[in-house]
Amino acid sequence: MASVMSKMDELVESLQRRYAVKRFDSSKQLDTDTWTAIERSLVLTPSSFGLQPWKFFVISSPEVKAKLPAISWNQSQPGDCSHMVVFAALKSVDEEYIDKFLNKTASTRGVSADSMSTYRKMILGFMQNATGRHLAWSSNQAYIALGQLLASAAILGIDACPMEGILTAEYDKLLGIADSNYTSVVGCALGYRHPEDKHAVAAKVRFDLSEVVTHI
Ligand SMILES: Cc1cc2nc3c(=O)[nH]c(=O)nc-3n(C[C@H](O)[C@H](O)[C@H](O)COP(=O)(O)O)c2cc1C
Repeated sequence: MASVMSKMDELVESLQRRYAVKRFDSSKQLDTDTWTAIERSLVLTPSSFGLQPWKFFVISSPEVKAKLPAISWNQSQPGDCSHMVVFAALKSVDEEYIDKFLNKTASTRGVSADSMSTYRKMILGFMQNATGRHLAWSSNQAYIALGQLLASAAILGIDACPMEGILTAEYDKLLGIADSNYTSVVGCALGYRHPEDKHAVAAKVRFDLSEVVTHI
């Protein structure tokens, strides 16, 4: 009798199956329902204070994708994938942005903006302290979204390649955000692996669990 895999085993198997794809099958595209689920999980990413200091750009047009390898260290994945996501982080977290978030919280939860004045002060204080380091902070948050995207894709059996090998200034120009308060920090190509991508069968290189996990 076939044994039923536990949820725990299924999770680990999905993550074991995922790998950083070097060659996508350009003939395969993700269907709309699958992509919608991916976007919905991306938007659910948690962030410090809940501020969501990011924008996600999704490139699926073949004409635009064709331009990407030249601004991605000549890597083929952004050109051959189905969808390329570019994570842009907020350069400066100003008072206006914080109020936009607090107003959203107030309307979503049916509370008054005034009731959040202590929280507002706390966020403002944190951001004042972090003057000059907002982008580093926002980038950290964007990388959490990258992690959530990778895990979500793996669970759905979709292949991906996280990509820092992109020329962010060139991506900013292409996305039309060069003069904005956002800048690209990292990308992720998604689609389906090419059957001949040798990296799919390479053994995973990870330090032993006992070396990196400490129980106190
Ligand atoms: C933030 C980040 C950026 C990465 N950038 C690239 C990249 O530009 N090109 C690439 O082929 N792989 C890239 N990788 C993939 C890593 O090399 C890969 O995840 C790592 O070697 C572990 O292998 P695995 O993901 O196949 O298990 C990146 C991974 C991360 C997390």
